[in-house]
Amino acid sequence: MREKPNCDKWSQGGPIFALSRDVPPEETHRGPEAMSVAELVDHIRIDFHLVELELMKSLATSMDRLRGSSHPAWTSLCDAFQVVADELTAHMEKEEKVLFPWIRAGRGDLAHAPIRVMVLEHAETLGRLDALRERVRALGSASEADRLPAEVASALASLDRHVREHVHLENDVLFPRALRGES
Ligand SMILES: [Fe+2]
Ligand SMILES: [Fe+2]
Repeated sequence: MREKPNCDKWSQGGPIFALSRDVPPEETHRGPEAMSVAELVDHIRIDFHLVELELMKSLATSMDRLRGSSHPAWTSLCDAFQVVADELTAHMEKEEKVLFPWIRAGRGDLAHAPIRVMVLEHAETLGRLDALRERVRALGSASEADRLPAEVASALASLDRHVREHVHLENDVLFPRALRGES
């Protein structure tokens, strides 16, 4: 299995980029590989989709406060975040409404095309997160004394870490098993 994504880049910019304790859940008893495909789908839906929706909701509230504050340099970053949030929300909705029911039913071997689309969307989202990460890093040094940008940077780091683990689980564990027709 591929190594888990390295998110340490976020912490290279000093305390403002420190990761919060809100890290993706680890399976303490059984790893995802030991779960049935149906269990894995539930794990992803509950521990990643729902958590990321909450993280993005909270971040959107903080971003709104940033837009109305004296941090104009963050405004375009707020817009860039909104693009990621909208795309990720639509992506997860497609998985839950269309792809996951097929996979749970053991028909993932018939879902090559939608799985390919999901993998392409993952790559696009990760690219956008890379760009967001760089923009936060560039803004960070000028904002370390400001609490709100620091909070937003920390929350973005949490979301980034979560999404990378989420994508890893789908691309490298769930989808290969689904394509073999496991349920
Ligand atoms: Fe997902
Ligand atoms: Fe996905």
